[in-house]
Amino acid sequence: MSGEEAPTQQQPPEQEKKPEDPPPAADAPQEPGGSPATPAVEEKEVKAEEEKPVSWRVLVLTGHGGYDKVKLQVKTQSKPPQLKAGEVLVRVKACGLNFAELLGRQGLYDLLPAPPVTMGMEGSGVIEAVGDDVEDRKVGDRVIAMSRCGMWQEMVVVPVNRTFLMPEEMSFEEGAALPVNYLTAYMMLFEMANLRPGKSVLVHMAAGGVGIAATQLCQTIQDVTVFGTASASKHETIARGGVTHPIDYRTKDYVEEIRKISPKGVDIVLDPLGGSDTQKGFSLLKPLGILVVFGAANCVTGQKKNLLAMAKTWYNQLSLNTLKLMQSNKAVSGFHLGHLSDEELISSAMFKLLELYRQGKIKPCIDSCYHFEEVAEAMKRMHERQNVGKVILLPEPKKEEEKPKSAAEAGENEGAINKKEEEVTEEVKAETD
Ligand SMILES: NC(=O)c1ccc[n+]([C@@H]2O[C@H](COP(=O)([O-])OP(=O)(O)OC[C@H]3O[C@@H](n4cnc5c(N)ncnc54)[C@H](OP(=O)(O)O)[C@@H]3O)[C@@H](O)[C@H]2O)c1
Repeated sequence: MSGEEAPTQQQPPEQEKKPEDPPPAADAPQEPGGSPATPAVEEKEVKAEEEKPVSWRVLVLTGHGGYDKVKLQVKTQSKPPQLKAGEVLVRVKACGLNFAELLGRQGLYDLLPAPPVTMGMEGSGVIEAVGDDVEDRKVGDRVIAMSRCGMWQEMVVVPVNRTFLMPEEMSFEEGAALPVNYLTAYMMLFEMANLRPGKSVLVHMAAGGVGIAATQLCQTIQDVTVFGTASASKHETIARGGVTHPIDYRTKDYVEEIRKISPKGVDIVLDPLGGSDTQKGFSLLKPLGILVVFGAANCVTGQKKNLLAMAKTWYNQLSLNTLKLMQSNKAVSGFHLGHLSDEELISSAMFKLLELYRQGKIKPCIDSCYHFEEVAEAMKRMHERQNVGKVILLPEPKKEEEKPKSAAEAGENEGAINKKEEEVTEEVKAETD
């Protein structure tokens, strides 16, 4: 995009438009990469309009630490973005919150540049402008967009090959919920573990974004047994979604529970936890089974970095030599979407996922949507393990009527959260030319 570089701009705010102004680029039907043919005088007016300052809402990670480190800012720029060849400008309608951003906020995500930086790896929206050499996208297209970071803002510039046309029936929230969770689950199950009929899979964090995606993808193959660990309150939902054996990891030893049902263990373990859970996962594998390691959630115990939990996770990690691995007849692999730079692999998996969506075989489960000013609450929901499915962030400002009308209606608790929210969302003007 670069979402990774300086954020781009949006149309001037509504109140700045004058009746005689030419329509903004997004409202004017135009050919990709260029303006419609107009008389010279109109061209001049269009140019004047284009060079007006633009401003946009953006969430900025200002330092590592707790919720208050992510601030809502309004940035301004004296002129619109100059798109390079192969780039498109997207007005973002919804963005995904991922576990990686909880890690990023704590300074534990290696791919995130140092603050100040805008996080966010996925979003959906509408194309507002296209650069030269962009042939298969046009202004007005609804797209899913991906980036290593930088998606948590109203406007982003992304390379066109990092955008995917959304099916008509897909909502912006679903579009933003799909890429990271489903690509991760798809690559692990189908590309690495070669999931086939009759196999069994252990899915940890089964009520989370990746967990639900993995469960749905398991349903696309015949007779797959899914063991899913999650808090007890979420079992009904995940069982409805296809988890054959929900297990409450908080009150029960999941290894014992699985052995009771399947004494030989399981064929595939997807491990987002790390530490001692990786060892347990390896021990649970049947002969020729595969463990896919893809996270270290055990390092995270709350809003602030916990060095003890990190040390414990690191100390307890699975340690193997290749001779022992050979003798065990098991496979161990690792997956990290952020470190996967093969665009063809990503695109071809995305096309397959969008086709599965069109066929009604997968559907992102949206847990909740929060406006940018509520980002602290959104992160809190995930940290406190309340989400079932995907947490979405909406760039659009929260409407007055959506806010609780009185403290009495809001209740004591919500009042406290709102106060916190105001602190976090203090708007900061930034000149970024
Ligand atoms: N390698 C990759 O490319 C890649 C890509 C995406 C995600 N991931 C990893 O996959 C995992 C899931 O990510 P996600 O974005 O889909 O998040 P998520 O699963 O929606 O995360 C939140 C849920 O996970 C459970 N959980 C377990 N341990 C937790 C902890 N220490 N802190 C908070 N929640 C915890 C909670 O559910 P319960 O109440 O049921 O415990 C919670 O509601 C993470 O480890 C993430 O790093 C890796």
